[in-house]
Amino acid sequence: MNTSSEEEVRDLYEESADWYAKMMDTEIDLPVYRDSLGRLSERIAGIPGELIDTSCGSGHMLSLYNETFDSERPLLGIDLSPRMVGIASSRLGPRATVLIGDMRDLSAVESKSAAAVVSFFAVHHLGPPDIPFTIQEWHRVLRSGGQLLIAAWEGDGPIDYGDQSDVVALRYGSEDVANWVRNAGFVVNRCLVQSVEDMEMDAIYLEGTKP
Ligand SMILES: C[S@@+](CC[C@H](N)C(=O)[O-])C[C@H]1O[C@@H](n2cnc3c(N)ncnc32)[C@H](O)[C@@H]1O
Repeated sequence: MNTSSEEEVRDLYEESADWYAKMMDTEIDLPVYRDSLGRLSERIAGIPGELIDTSCGSGHMLSLYNETFDSERPLLGIDLSPRMVGIASSRLGPRATVLIGDMRDLSAVESKSAAAVVSFFAVHHLGPPDIPFTIQEWHRVLRSGGQLLIAAWEGDGPIDYGDQSDVVALRYGSEDVANWVRNAGFVVNRCLVQSVEDMEMDAIYLEGTKP
């Protein structure tokens, strides 16, 4: 099964960006965000370079990182949806660079320059053929010791958006995600499947290191 086109995905988030940002105002208080970013922050403490959120949405994770863990770290947010980029830019102001872009292509970022790459709840918009080269692209931009943090919807087959959208997005198994990450050259430090409050789907939370 193919995932929806870039245009369809962009339209979904253009329409839902305001609602999404409001939802994230409370969601960001869930311990998983603070815990994951806290571990990431410790692991990159001695590593210079940007923290890149490759699908930053409303910018809540970059903001949490900046406010709670490291106000000095340069931050780069990328997102397909101009509306999301606008919301994230307003939230972050001069604390981050936020660009319209595609998580599959970080050609604006030099190889071996970044300290961390974050991808929360966005790889479901990529089909299986796109995921290996996308994770290789994230590996390319990281320095040695750099960290990868992924959250993805766990399972098999399409996500049911109900009446909200006809967009086709896919859930993946934790073993598949961990294998894509390993095959790109990362060491997987942690890969857990956890339930998410008020959601019928579980989530995969993966943390990896570029050796
Ligand atoms: C479910 S939201 C998650 C946003 C944010 N990571 C968070 O956890 O709050 C998915 C985001 O991925 C973005 N997105 C989808 N496909 C993308 C792509 N190919 N490149 C960059 N961003 C993409 C959407 O525009 C949307 O903002």
